Amino acid sequence: MSIPNETNTNQQWGGRFAEGPSAIMQAINASIGFDAKMWRQDIRGSLAHAAMLAHVGIISADDEAAIRKGLADIAQEIEAGGFEWSEALEDVHMNIEARLTERIGEAGKRLHTARSRNDQVATDFRLWTRDAMDGLAAQMLDCVKALVARAEEHAGTIMPGYTHLQPAQPTTFGHHMLAYAEMLWRDRGRMLDARARLNECPLGSAALCGTGFPIDRHMTAQALGFDGPTRNSLDGVGSRDFAMEFLAAAAICATHLSRLAEEIVIWTNPSFGFVKLSDGLTTGSSIMPQKRNPDAAELVRGKTGRMNGNLMGLLTVVKGLSLTYAKDLQEDKEGVFDSAENLTLCLAATAAMVRDMQPNTARMAAAAGEGFSTATDLADWLVRELKLPFRDAHHVTGRLVAKAEGLGVDLPGLSLEEMREVEPRIDQSVFDVLTPAASVASRRSYGGTAPENVRAMVAEWKGRLA
Ligand code: ARG
Repeated sequence: MSIPNETNTNQQWGGRFAEGPSAIMQAINASIGFDAKMWRQDIRGSLAHAAMLAHVGIISADDEAAIRKGLADIAQEIEAGGFEWSEALEDVHMNIEARLTERIGEAGKRLHTARSRNDQVATDFRLWTRDAMDGLAAQMLDCVKALVARAEEHAGTIMPGYTHLQPAQPTTFGHHMLAYAEMLWRDRGRMLDARARLNECPLGSAALCGTGFPIDRHMTAQALGFDGPTRNSLDGVGSRDFAMEFLAAAAICATHLSRLAEEIVIWTNPSFGFVKLSDGLTTGSSIMPQKRNPDAAELVRGKTGRMNGNLMGLLTVVKGLSLTYAKDLQEDKEGVFDSAENLTLCLAATAAMVRDMQPNTARMAAAAGEGFSTATDLADWLVRELKLPFRDAHHVTGRLVAKAEGLGVDLPGLSLEEMREVEPRIDQSVFDVLTPAASVASRRSYGGTAPENVRAMVAEWKGRLA
């Protein structure tokens, strides 16, 4: 039996309405423009719900079979591009349910028993976000692999290490790559930690207070790959911290990628000339024929802005929202979709650039010796060999740097006599520590930059990644 509906009221909830929504009501209310993206999750959730309803005897086995067949047909329809999404039906949930009833009649109208769109959307969105997390975590792992491979190749490739972007101490390209491997590994861990907390099923929380029907929430939770049902129905429909955590993890990862991107921009600048990107990962200029622009790196850097914004957006939407569901929460999705899509691009572009970069080892080695970069090694020598307190050694070295600067030479360019004018006890062996190669080789403290450390760390990474 179908309920007559002579007016244009909403067929899913219009019973108590005499008229349909105004155009502006429909326009501001509809989410189908973006939530259709969750159609797979919606169908999956409905299949689990229907199977459970039949299992506990709330609907008949025949109805469940009809629902299952109907939803499978709808999935095909959507897949084939033949499904007509309607704004009047607001969202993905009502579009699919309406189509189901259109196709299978009465049984379709029983699907929404013991369920609300509130727990339905919370479930769909968790499923969608969980898939996104898995995909992104896999991409982060791929990036780590790319970085470790470059580190292995360049464990002994000397380059300048900077603080304040000023020459500080020589390091190696391999050590630098492994620094990012550490960050991206933590990013992946953060994403997987968030996934573990996300993985509870709100389905069956119903509108907000649960339901009087004898549903089996453990069954649906299990069918959908969750660790179990959420423990409080108000929390189940009203919380979005799983999405916040996703956005936070995405923003932090994007921020790390942005730093590497910034370095690639710097390194590819001809004044640095440390690395070259191939044609496939750069662009030219329509007016300046000589240009080779690192647009991919710039966009990785630039897209971080929106990902940080998406996190702020959701935090702001939920802040001050009384329990439980309010339509404000419909604003939770676009930022998450956007961050997922853009972080996917950024990770892919970064992995590609890391694999592609061709370091100019001669340029990097030359730059590593600039800016008195072995001054710390000189101070350490004074401490070790002349037993000067470090603070005094720092002062003596500062005077030697000033002297070299005055003479227009680097530290190894000072003669022994010139050095002795500052500190008479300095001997010839000081020159052994003043080259970038000696400097990096000496830094064997755990986590330090010495090529042998980097090689050992690469071996550790390979074990971890195997
Ligand atoms: N499209 C809605 C959303 O994304 C679904 C839930 C609607 N619930 C409601 N009580 N109107 O949040």
